[in-house]
Amino acid sequence: MFIKYIVVGALAFAMLSGCSDNSSSNTTASAKVDQSKSSADLGKNAIQVGKDYHSFANPESIKVTHLSLDLTVDFSKKVLLGTAQLDFQRVDPKATQLILDTRDLTIEGVTSMGKVINYDLANADSFLGAALTIEIPADANSVVISYQTSPNASGVQWLTPEQTAGKKHPFLFTQAQAIHARSFIPLQDSPQVRMTYEAIIRTPKELLAVMSASNEPDTERDGVYEFSMPQAIPSYLIALAVGDLHFKSMGERTGVYSEKGILNAAAEEFSDTESMLIATEKAFGPYSWDRYDLLILPPSFPFGGMENPRLSFITPTVIAGDKSLVSLIAHELAHSWSGNTVTNATWRDLWLNEGFTTYLTYRIMQMIYGDERFEMEAVLGRQDLQADIDSLPANDQIMAIDLRGRDPDAVFSNIPYEKGALFLRELEHKVGRENFDQFLLGYFEKFAFKSITTDQFVNYLEQTLLKDHSAVLSKQRIEQWIFQPGVPADAPIPESYAFSVVDEARDAWLAGSIQAGEIDSEKWVVHQWLYFLNNMPEKLSQEQLVDLDKAFSLTSSKNNEIAHSWLLISVNNWYQPAFTRLHDYLTSIGRNKLVKPLYKALSQTPEGKVMAQKAFTEAKAGYHPLTVKTNEGFVQ
Ligand code: BES
Ligand code: ZN
Repeated sequence: MFIKYIVVGALAFAMLSGCSDNSSSNTTASAKVDQSKSSADLGKNAIQVGKDYHSFANPESIKVTHLSLDLTVDFSKKVLLGTAQLDFQRVDPKATQLILDTRDLTIEGVTSMGKVINYDLANADSFLGAALTIEIPADANSVVISYQTSPNASGVQWLTPEQTAGKKHPFLFTQAQAIHARSFIPLQDSPQVRMTYEAIIRTPKELLAVMSASNEPDTERDGVYEFSMPQAIPSYLIALAVGDLHFKSMGERTGVYSEKGILNAAAEEFSDTESMLIATEKAFGPYSWDRYDLLILPPSFPFGGMENPRLSFITPTVIAGDKSLVSLIAHELAHSWSGNTVTNATWRDLWLNEGFTTYLTYRIMQMIYGDERFEMEAVLGRQDLQADIDSLPANDQIMAIDLRGRDPDAVFSNIPYEKGALFLRELEHKVGRENFDQFLLGYFEKFAFKSITTDQFVNYLEQTLLKDHSAVLSKQRIEQWIFQPGVPADAPIPESYAFSVVDEARDAWLAGSIQAGEIDSEKWVVHQWLYFLNNMPEKLSQEQLVDLDKAFSLTSSKNNEIAHSWLLISVNNWYQPAFTRLHDYLTSIGRNKLVKPLYKALSQTPEGKVMAQKAFTEAKAGYHPLTVKTNEGFVQ
């Protein structure tokens, strides 16, 4: 037994190390990690398809089906406290224990049918939290847990009044994906467990609570708010925000919540949301979630957006004044189909959520804004993907990634997003758009309100597209996309005519044949500026930087994406005139995608590290726990 284990372990090690070559984007036969056949080849080390390695819960024995929350929001103590009632079904009729996920929760007691019952809270794992095992009476079908959260809950950010736009009232928001719901609710925190929920949220009177559920914009502000989510959703989509929120309608089914100061700007910026919703329904099937509203959060929100059902959570950093960054809205809206309706069964299958959503995002942008915008965004997305392929180890370039023993937060990349989208675009090109859209319609219908694995998707593909289009599709090619690193040779290559003029201008300027001021850039849109900046050589001279900044006022750009690209160039070339802006940027924005590359670049030199430490120390109190976790390594 012992010897067998070693042999298997060595084989697994050899196979894994055989694919650590990340120098080329195309894979060769000798550098393969074939997870689909891993059970036979790797024995003990095989991934168990469909097993959620990020939850202690036991839905295979007892499955939670409904959650009722009654929570008080205590801003002075920074805790949520109250009760969670969980209704469950026995999958195994003999099951006697309900196992839940928790993180940093204080459990005050558990009852069932009015009687106190026994439970055990295990020691905490470093990133999974602590299993809560509840002894279930034979005739029970629900339990009530009294608990409170920790002020440091990983999925909750508490903002002081000073950290909000209005400066008068505190603010709170949750972010559950991937495994943070357990830090504010004891539950089966796995995307394969779907539940309906209802909630009573008690807040200070003058504040409004909103959730990923039915929201009543005109509800009386009395500090007691009731919600219900009648469709079964996975735990990572449970969300709550509380603040001095106001509402503005944008259309029949769409509207926006935010603090008053940015409400009008947000409603203007995102005024195409209703058209996006209508166009997406027309192409990909009915919207299943009643309303679609947006909640604009304070700038510390660690993501661009989060697809909480009926109410996407959105960073304010995309309010640019010209709708240039609204593909984010298309993305979160698209999740209403890919992700919220058809859900990944485990975090290994995240690409089913994000890849499909990224593909749909491009399609929505094309429908609403036309081919040129679509092409530019596709090229920028392909470049983001390439950057990750050039820098990530081979195993992390696999769409169906092996996350065993890893914190999903630490593995965030463009692979599930842009590689997933490129794969779907290849399928579309091979079978034709009409056929592919038919396929997508059928897929969303077939797996509606289910959580599925990559393997289930491949099976479905085999029974549908692959069967009908065997002349142009092969299973081997599909498996290469999903289970191998890199991008297969002859993958689609996005192109944009609008970018070729940018390339010409950049080339001429780099060659010294023109000054920056002579570039005919008056009509350039934000995407062209991003392409212009993102494709500069690594090293530029101080004269070149001054020339660019003088001509285009990049240091004071109000577009947060352009500012990001410019600040990154400035750090990498030690362009000091931009450093005041850099400090302001790092201390006023908490969106990881925008700040992490800057901290990382700063951490490369001792002088840079000093600046990073200064900004981080100043900003830390206002950063979300995830932004702290992601960046603190760069300033140590
Ligand atoms: N669902 C994601 C955010 C997420 C993913 C949170 C994984 C935690 C774990 C959301 O839909 C998203 O993809 N946001 C992107 C938007 C972008 C790709 C348009 C973001 O925040 O940058
Ligand atoms: Zn997404």
